Amino acid sequence: MTGNRTDWYTHDRFGMFIHWGLYSMGARHEWMRSREFMTNEQYDKYRKHFDPDRYDPELWADLAAEAGMKYMVVTAKHHEGFCLWDSSLTDYKATNSPAGRDLLRPMLDAFRARDIRAGLYYSLLDWHHPDYTVDVKHPERNDKRFVEDSKSRDFSKYVDYLHGQTRELLSDYGDIDLLFYDFSIAAEAGFAGKGKEEWQSEKLVKLIRGLRPDILLNDRLQLPGDITTPEQYQPREWIKVNGQRVVWEACHTFSGSWGYYRDEESWKSVDMLVQMLIDTVSKGGNLLLNVGPTGRGEFDERAIDRLKGIGGWMKRHKRSIYGCSAAPESFQCPVDCRFTYNEEAGRLYLHIFNWPFKHIHLQGFSGQVEYAQLLHDASEIRMIQGEQEMTMEAGAFNEGRHAGTLTLELPVKKPNVTVPVIELFLKGK
Ligand code: GLC
Repeated sequence: MTGNRTDWYTHDRFGMFIHWGLYSMGARHEWMRSREFMTNEQYDKYRKHFDPDRYDPELWADLAAEAGMKYMVVTAKHHEGFCLWDSSLTDYKATNSPAGRDLLRPMLDAFRARDIRAGLYYSLLDWHHPDYTVDVKHPERNDKRFVEDSKSRDFSKYVDYLHGQTRELLSDYGDIDLLFYDFSIAAEAGFAGKGKEEWQSEKLVKLIRGLRPDILLNDRLQLPGDITTPEQYQPREWIKVNGQRVVWEACHTFSGSWGYYRDEESWKSVDMLVQMLIDTVSKGGNLLLNVGPTGRGEFDERAIDRLKGIGGWMKRHKRSIYGCSAAPESFQCPVDCRFTYNEEAGRLYLHIFNWPFKHIHLQGFSGQVEYAQLLHDASEIRMIQGEQEMTMEAGAFNEGRHAGTLTLELPVKKPNVTVPVIELFLKGK
């Protein structure tokens, strides 16, 4: 490693997001409390009935490992305020539900045991805490009495809680590699926003760096952070901030909601998800793909199906993902394809999203490639290089070729893998 704290992260490229909390039982989006304007009392039925009797973190970690995921980020606390760990700073936690135990620790242990790095998501919003003041996202924002009462809340006590819980998580839960805070709120509809002043972000970052200097931080504390985190969106190109390429991570759901959503039907296919992973790496980013386990503590069978599908592809193609990034801009990518590039190995990976008939022409590549093969089975892909005149003999049309073109000769039948990849060994590397 060359000394950047993001090195492991930009190498590993692929992580699992886990959104698990009381909202998993409502099974209709983790924002349900806000969308349905529920009070603490109304929402408390979920805490009273939260009994994840099928929870097996070893199984979760196996599924992540099989899918090729190298890090995980779990909602220690989401906007609802419920804590998966046994926090000494609140009673609103898993130990005070029928779950009756710390759910976080065994999860982190299980993932770490499979060499998957551990990250925590922590919600800055907190709809349960007695000192958290009303804002435009709060479930009780429309209740005039609540809004009035909120004026007498002492937000600084909430900030102490947020900083205190951060300290607790970073002190008592082993090596935490990444923290994902969520999120800063813009002023809207007569409500003030909440941002770096309100969260006391700078002080918080100092605390974090004091405890774990190399931890990676996202960008939602209204401070830049190590990682820029677009959500449910594939950027057009490598993300730039102030004109500079940054370390970035796209986070995505399988079906639109982060929390378990029983009736959602917009599940992405394995093909689409694999293409999204490739597309992300081809633009120099990471993919954090979310699973929303059920209230009983299991992964949805639809999620298992997708994870296994991705794993099937990753098993033979991870070489085009780990340690890879965007290819130099001088390599012109053919239509319906994506390049990833492993600079150290001197290999370029051509991912073919739409299998063409017989030929792919790589402009400007002639003389640059030493050897080419399909990645999944190491079968040679023969290359044609060099200039050829256009000819039209006995009805056989030959359109000719530029000197710089390198043509790959493909089998007519698309290989039986989700996205075929051609591995190009560059000369002189
Ligand atoms: C958002 C949502 C949230 C989700 C998160 C993931 O900001 O509020 O529910 O946890 O993004 O990035």
